[in-house]
Amino acid sequence: MMLRYALAALGLAILGAGITLHQPATAGTESPKIQATAHLYDTYCAQCHGVQRNGKGVNTIGLSVQPRDHSDTVAMSSLPREQMIKAITDGGASVNKSALMPSWSGVLTKDQIEDMADYLIYVCKCDQKK
Ligand code: HEC
Repeated sequence: MMLRYALAALGLAILGAGITLHQPATAGTESPKIQATAHLYDTYCAQCHGVQRNGKGVNTIGLSVQPRDHSDTVAMSSLPREQMIKAITDGGASVNKSALMPSWSGVLTKDQIEDMADYLIYVCKCDQKK
């Protein structure tokens, strides 16, 4: 019981820190599609992948496999768009990754998942890496 409260308090503390440090991922200059997808990311992905998109979400305490750091340009560049789409649609296990990465096919539409892949490529600045 105590542990539960302690964990909840810790979660809130981290969430608080996250909000304070949160630099909006959308500065208002992005396309409407990027902004809409950023909102979806904040709703569904940030709990694990973090408000900073760095894999350090509030829900990662105790996860045996840590979520992917979506801001890591080098690591994300090696992830083909098709694999992102597969992982988001059918979950981590479908691409031989951790099943802790959920399947989103029941939550997001096919178009939203495609937009999410484009958004991730935007977030990691992978398209700017030459
Ligand atoms: C419950 C926690 C959790 C949530 C919520 C979550 N993820 Fe993940 N995600 C993970 C974990 C853990 C991994 C790392 C899997 C591994 O490396 O084995 C991961 C990995 C990924 C990967 C990399 C897959 C690969 O092939 O390396 C992508 C892309 C991804 N997540 C996208 C998303 C998107 C988009 C959302 C929101 C729609 C989301 N995730 C929500 C936990 C989560």
